[in-house]
Amino acid sequence: MWRYVHWVFLVCLTTTTFLNVGNAQLHPKNPATYQRLPSLREQAIILDHWRDERLSHIPELLKKHGVQAWLISQREYAEDTIWWSIKSAMEFAPHRRMVLFFHSNTSSLAGKPNPLRWVDNTGSVWTELLDILKEYNPQNIAINTDSNHAFGGGLHVGEFEALRENLGKKWTSRMVGKPKIGIEYVASRVSGQLQYYRSMQEITWALIEEAFSGRVIQPSVTTTEDVEWWYREKMQQQNLSTWNHPRVSVITPESFPGWSGTKDIINEGDLLHVDFGITAMGMNTDTQHMAYVLQTSQGETDAPRGLKEGLKKANRMQDIVLMHMKPGKTGNQVLRECLEQMKSEGIEGQIYSHPIGDWGHSAGAVMGFTNLPEYVPHYGELEILPNTYYSIELYAYHFVPERNETLRFRIEEDAYWVDEVRGWEFVRGRQEKFHLINWPSRGVENVLQVQQ
Ligand SMILES: *[C@@H]1O[C@H](CO)[C@@H](O)[C@H](O)[C@H]1NC(C)=O
Ligand SMILES: *[C@@H]1O[C@H](CO)[C@@H](O)[C@H](O)[C@H]1NC(C)=O
Ligand SMILES: *[C@@H]1O[C@H](CO)[C@@H](O)[C@H](O)[C@H]1NC(C)=O
Repeated sequence: MWRYVHWVFLVCLTTTTFLNVGNAQLHPKNPATYQRLPSLREQAIILDHWRDERLSHIPELLKKHGVQAWLISQREYAEDTIWWSIKSAMEFAPHRRMVLFFHSNTSSLAGKPNPLRWVDNTGSVWTELLDILKEYNPQNIAINTDSNHAFGGGLHVGEFEALRENLGKKWTSRMVGKPKIGIEYVASRVSGQLQYYRSMQEITWALIEEAFSGRVIQPSVTTTEDVEWWYREKMQQQNLSTWNHPRVSVITPESFPGWSGTKDIINEGDLLHVDFGITAMGMNTDTQHMAYVLQTSQGETDAPRGLKEGLKKANRMQDIVLMHMKPGKTGNQVLRECLEQMKSEGIEGQIYSHPIGDWGHSAGAVMGFTNLPEYVPHYGELEILPNTYYSIELYAYHFVPERNETLRFRIEEDAYWVDEVRGWEFVRGRQEKFHLINWPSRGVENVLQVQQ
């Protein structure tokens, strides 16, 4: 009876807790399946449409930051970082010298293409650009020379020299650094992206669910490195690429930050971790999950309670981050508030969350770095922007009595900004249960074994 009452109480508590956040903060009910993305030809149409929509916001972005023009100059293979976010889906490099001139679309340039664009290897671009500058007479011109922010600092030194030499003192003296233009442009999302981002998240989960199963892992035989390469090959088969080599490791009190996997043989009773992401349709995912290798030889059917408690603590930290992460606050402010709240709840751990989207580590405010747990210069001083994707990356420390050791429970999930009322939600829920590796699994052939 006591158990029954306790259970009812828990259910009520859980339902009310999650009422205001929908299902987005729960472990998805159904196993993930490999989603098919559109053909490359269809993707190109979709991507160019998104690109055009994002470009159409540049005039207002320039006005917001008080400039009348934004000049990007680059050569083939020495491109500005911004180029990757403004190119068409059928371009793979800015050929020869490519100069892009964004204007705030007022006065003489209203109605002209925005940006004006030159592809040149004869030097004629400079004459034509000078004519445009005379006609438009911008009082200031943003260029990407920031020394801290990559998305505002992609102008190569040689290109800057070429600009100075060919445009002369008058225009060079009107050049200003406004890194937030590039940062805010790269950070911006358009609404049509979400459905495909959801598919990408489901693919990411499908990969993890397959990797962390008896199909790929045979205890005492498979190594963490085998699993990493399984991910690489499987992504290739799924026509996906990645922005980071997958890192698979066995979690021990020592294993962190783990820039590479641990190269361990996976054994029964291990707590496994993966950190990886996929790249497709101009977007990236970044996810960390944990798995438990059941001690099947001893009849074990679930993860030890102490491990489950650790995962719960890390889930609570995710709630805390999403709760405090209000647009307009700086990354450092959010980080400080989260650390204070964790302290008041008796949680120890670390937060190192970052924007995601056009890049795995994309433009915008970060909240912590693994080596800068309390304050991040420059990147942490930026403001959280709405209408972006964020990767909520963190760990909770938890003492696991069954093992007599304190472990880091490391999880990461990608979130998107819904609206003022709902705030941030995870794109495909979050991990609240361990993936369980159950070997030998009846009727399942281990794919890595078959290959060897
Ligand atoms: C520029 O201005 C013209 C005319 O005012 C307008 O039709 C056009 O949509 C604008 N273009 C951009 C990219 O803002
Ligand atoms: C990958 O692309 C090839 C070639 O277009 C196609 O035949 C195959 O079905 C695709 N695989 C998946 C899983 O989408
Ligand atoms: C638990 O670990 C601590 C420190 O590592 C050690 O001193 C202690 O003896 C251990 N306790 C048990 C029950 O093994």
